[in-house]
Amino acid sequence: MIVHSRLGITLTLVCTMNAAHAEEKKWEPNYDESKIPAYTLPDPLVMDDGTTVEDPQQWVKRRNELIALFEQHVYGKAPRKPDDLRFKQFDHTPDALDGKAVRKQIRIDFAKGADAPGMDLLMYLPSKTTKPVPTFLLLNFQGNHAVNPDPGIRLSTSWVRDGYPGVENNHSTEASRGAASRRFPIDMILERGYGLATAYYGDIDPDYDDGFNNGVHAQFDTDPRPDNAWASIAAWAWGLRRAMDYLETDNDVDPKHVFVMGHSRLGKTALWAGALDERFAMVISNNSGCGGAALCRRAIGETVGKINQLFPHWFCKNFTRYNERENDLPVDQHMLIALAAPRPIYVASAEKDRWADPKGEFLSCLHADPVYRLLGTTGMPAKRWPALDEPVHGRIGYHYRTGGHDVTDYDWQQYIDFAEKHFQGK
Ligand code: GCU
Repeated sequence: MIVHSRLGITLTLVCTMNAAHAEEKKWEPNYDESKIPAYTLPDPLVMDDGTTVEDPQQWVKRRNELIALFEQHVYGKAPRKPDDLRFKQFDHTPDALDGKAVRKQIRIDFAKGADAPGMDLLMYLPSKTTKPVPTFLLLNFQGNHAVNPDPGIRLSTSWVRDGYPGVENNHSTEASRGAASRRFPIDMILERGYGLATAYYGDIDPDYDDGFNNGVHAQFDTDPRPDNAWASIAAWAWGLRRAMDYLETDNDVDPKHVFVMGHSRLGKTALWAGALDERFAMVISNNSGCGGAALCRRAIGETVGKINQLFPHWFCKNFTRYNERENDLPVDQHMLIALAAPRPIYVASAEKDRWADPKGEFLSCLHADPVYRLLGTTGMPAKRWPALDEPVHGRIGYHYRTGGHDVTDYDWQQYIDFAEKHFQGK
């Protein structure tokens, strides 16, 4: 008996291991264009009842319909602006960065009470200007203090992923100051007359699968959580909107020219924030990939099934219904791009970032073009995927840069040129 049951256990183990191995073998990312399943994209200009959108008034209705669809099936629905939102400026240094910048830090509390969630917003504004400045707003991955070695930046005490320089036991140490500065060319941004505002995304919601028990979820969620409840991307996007609430009150910032930007998972976040909130004058997606700028239906590189498996806390539960069933989605990501219309939007891809499907990121821009045109603007001027390092700046901007998954000075230069093209003198 014992031998038998032991044998049974052994056999079960072997079978499980084989199954796991087969599973592992089964899922290889596809990078072969010829293996893309046949798909038809839903039309951004056809309402759910089949009516064609023919003018800007009808687009307003379609826009609301699309937002509701993305809320229901992809990102989940976030709560509205909280009544108890508070801003406390705890730093105002007029001569930061060797006199080049005015530095401000503001605590944004999302609710009342000592334990309520909130975030620190760090701002650098050019010290030379006398009028309110256009400002880039973005979340960061490692804490505000990692954006620049400036010792005046408050060191984050929030949970942070291990593996980043200077992070020990999920906490930032002094050694992590400036660790991400390469991705924040503050001198360039200031010299060209722009401000930078940034907050740590983990202040809003720590980026791990915690059962939605911490961050803003602990404060605002209902129990039970519905299948369309907001998840982490929607929470981070909500945080960007709360930062915008603050920026609107800051006399040194031009609130009509706040540009929301993000890289990778935070690029997905910036796109969703920009879609929901028309106060953002421009939207920038840097290498955002699956669930961001890339078309889900191409199922190349990262797929809906894979992202839901790897990051079960990013999207609402309903999104898992589309694992390996991308064609059933009532939306696709070209509609997310279209939700920025007629505001300028920029999508950037990188050559070695195949996981994010660079071509699929471009195709989303191309298929958002009819909405931009309907609204009387240029959309995406390129009809074919542009060559490497040949940016296209229509009302929709796009580039496919040499190199890997990253934010580089080249990317920033394009964003600033693009902002100048659309807003200089306005
Ligand atoms: C992973 C994930 C991507 C995401 C990226 C990032 O690679 O699969 O979807 O964009 O992390 O945020 O860095």
